[in-house]
This record gives sequence, C-alpha cells and structure tokens, in this order.
Amino acid sequence: MGLPITEAVERLNKSKEYTVLFKKIFKQTPNAKNLGAAFAAYESTLETVDSKFDDWSNNLKNLTAQEERGRQLFVGDKAKCFDCHRMEDFTTDDFKNIGLYDGVNLTDAGLYNITKKESDKGKFKIPGLRNIAVTAPYMHNGMFKTLEEVIEYYSNPKKIVANPINIDAALQKPLNLTQKEKADLVAFLKTLTDKKYSHK
Ligand code: HEC
Repeated sequence: MGLPITEAVERLNKSKEYTVLFKKIFKQTPNAKNLGAAFAAYESTLETVDSKFDDWSNNLKNLTAQEERGRQLFVGDKAKCFDCHRMEDFTTDDFKNIGLYDGVNLTDAGLYNITKKESDKGKFKIPGLRNIAVTAPYMHNGMFKTLEEVIEYYSNPKKIVANPINIDAALQKPLNLTQKEKADLVAFLKTLTDKKYSHK
C-alpha cells in the first residue's frame, strides 16, 4: 500500500470496474475522499467477534481435533505465530520484518520509507488475522494467493526469498513444519473468519 493517494485515484479512474462501482455507491468517480471512505468501510468488515474461534473462547463450541492442533501450534514455541499475531485481532500492532525484502527482487523497504532508519528496512505492520480466509491475496505486495502458500513460506522462508535483509530473529531458523502441521495451521486460521463469510 505504498502508493501515493493521487496515483491510486488516477489508477482507479482508469479502471472501468471501479469507476462503475464508485459511481454506484458514491455518485462520483473515485477521489481521495471517497477512497478514504471505501477503505474505512472495508476495514470495518474486518472487525468481528463472531467467528468459530470466538465461539470456542466463549465455551460455546469445540474446535475440531485438527483446528485444535493448529491452535496449539499457533500459540506454541514451534511456530511462534503468537509472538506477533496476538491480542483481540491477532496483531500486536508492531512493525516487523518477516523476510520479504531483499533489495533485489523485493524492493519495498516498508517502514524504512517513512523513518529512513536502516533497522526499519523490510519492516511492515503486522496485519490482524480476522477474516483471513476471505482476504487473499496476502502480504503487502499480495505475493501469496492462498493460506497454504503463506504457511509454506513461514515453514522455510529462505526457500522462497534466498537473501532476506534484517529478517526477524523469530524466523531466522526454518520452522520445518510437517505437511500435517501445515494443514493444521491453515485449519486453525480459517476459524478466525466471521461466520457470515465462511458459509459453513
Ligand atoms: C516476527 C513477527 C511475525 C511472526 C512470528 C509471524 N508473523 Fe505473520 N505476519 C507478520 C507481518 C509483519 C506480516 C505482514 C508482512 C507484509 O505485509 O509483507 C505478516 C503476515 C501474515 C499473514 C498475511 C496477512 C495478510 O492479510 O496479508 C498471515 C496469514 C500470517 N502472517 C500468519 C502467520 C502465521 C500462521 C504465523 C506462524 C507460523 C506467523 N504469521 C508468524 C509478522 C509475523
């Protein structure tokens, strides 16, 4: 999302699909103000407390055995997801580097673009994970199309990005998850999605 707002508006105005939708909803073509309103409306769809996970935490529903194994991995020492994705919306709201900046193929330096601090190169806001099953593609650049691809990445980041700059200590050693553990984590992530989107 490092796009300057003027360019974002320009690009939207070139898209037939978006101009039709903006006219329908705002009675105007895309501009900085209605784009802000559209973002806010999107973000509010991510605020949810009505997922299977919430039912589980309120003792209303059990997780399946697979989802429960995924939950334990998620909060445990092996996968360490909870280091960064915790609290109500599964984010500490910090900026962290998960290895998606190498200065060659992956050139968005993230937080560094704002602070100009070397140590901020490759840091991005930790996104919340609510409704994650329905918000593909993933990461700041949309490089992963499915949750399976995301987990494959976390299992062994250097298989996908050989020379990441400043990758977080939590991810320096590959997690080396088994196929079963990967599927368990995906099953758990899916429980974070609001029932109105999960069609189950
Ligand atoms: C060191 C902190 C850290 C750890 C540990 C971590 N994440 Fe992340 N996660 C992030 C950051 C930062 C991003 C966003 C990166 C970007 O935008 O390029 C992210 C992105 C994601 C996304 C994509 C979200 C989206 O909307 O695009 C998913 C899914 C995810 N993480 C799941 C996990 C899982 C599962 C684990 C454990 C295996 C995990 N994360 C471990 C920091 C972390």
